[in-house]
Amino acid sequence: MTYAFLRRAGMGAIGRDASAAAPRVLVAVIDGMAEHRLQVGQALTSFYRVACFEDLREAVPHLRREPPLALVVDESAKPFGGRETIRRLRNMPSLKEVRIIATSGKVDSKLFSTAEELGCDAILSKPFRRSELISTISSLVNHSIEAGWKRLGLYHRHALTSALQTFNGISDLIDRGEAVEYVAVREACSPLVDAVQRNDFKAILNGVRGHDNYSYVHSMRVATFLSLFGHAMGLKGEDLLLLSSGGLLHDIGKMSIPHEVLNKPGRLTDDEFAVMRGHVDSSAAYITQCPTMPKGVGLIAAQHHEKLDGSGYPNGLKGKELNELARMAAIVDVFSALTDRRCYKPPMEPENALKIMHDEMGSHLDTQMLRLFIDLLLSSAEESAAG
Ligand SMILES: [Fe+2]
Ligand SMILES: [Fe+2]
Repeated sequence: MTYAFLRRAGMGAIGRDASAAAPRVLVAVIDGMAEHRLQVGQALTSFYRVACFEDLREAVPHLRREPPLALVVDESAKPFGGRETIRRLRNMPSLKEVRIIATSGKVDSKLFSTAEELGCDAILSKPFRRSELISTISSLVNHSIEAGWKRLGLYHRHALTSALQTFNGISDLIDRGEAVEYVAVREACSPLVDAVQRNDFKAILNGVRGHDNYSYVHSMRVATFLSLFGHAMGLKGEDLLLLSSGGLLHDIGKMSIPHEVLNKPGRLTDDEFAVMRGHVDSSAAYITQCPTMPKGVGLIAAQHHEKLDGSGYPNGLKGKELNELARMAAIVDVFSALTDRRCYKPPMEPENALKIMHDEMGSHLDTQMLRLFIDLLLSSAEESAAG
């Protein structure tokens, strides 16, 4: 197997989330109202590590020790109220660059009318939806990355933004116990599938690099590689859209897993692993209760951690019990997870990931499909090198 060829051929451009530095991941919330503080903390939990404070004096030593990525400051922040809290935070040299979001339940809030001169980056009126909070923070901290999308062609820009909007919007639907319509997911995946069919998808993989919403980045990479894999296997039209949708939604159940567990470096404890494994049942349960969702999307979510030898989870399915789409998803998911950049690890070189998959996962993954996947990435890298 000529894995070294992958490096020579510029495989990194295809396979690896090669962003340079590990991002900061802390979001601090200063809010005097316990219930709201808890809600905001919970809304952010799978996206960031969150530190919640009632009082600025309690927050300052923590913020000095670890300057956060963003601060969410409510009008009710103790003991000075939101305006004075923000003024004092802005005067701390270590927090000069931090993004500050002011929140208030009063439409005519003085905090809002003076937000700009206080140095706030955004305001949010309560009550706000989870997706509003996430996309506000995300667009502030990913400003340069999302601004770069504007320079892309229409297809690529649309592929990145519509998937991000759909992805964030699903968090609201899950919170409200409402179903997502397949047509919305299918539409979000459609420009991605078009780009893959035109062999013009690399700008999409490049576009998600360095974005701090790991769930979105991973899901986009899985959706892209799955579309590529399906296209190479001769799938077309609706089948390809289904596969891509399955990729975008396969880990949707991770939205309720705390960041600390989701991004823990090193070994998970038994309890943490149980929480982590739970994302499969949560994803499948949510997807299967969406009336318009095709069965294949649910199968991808339900079986992407199953292994051919029965050692996978959640049901220890074996051999023929594993659906074909899920076998493809398992290969793509492992490859993406190994080559994703995480806040605690750099991305693995794609040739090393493929070597591990080939050498060590023969009993877990469908070897015929894996061979096809490796050949596909090899020829894609060859094209990159040639052209
Ligand atoms: Fe998963
Ligand atoms: Fe995954």
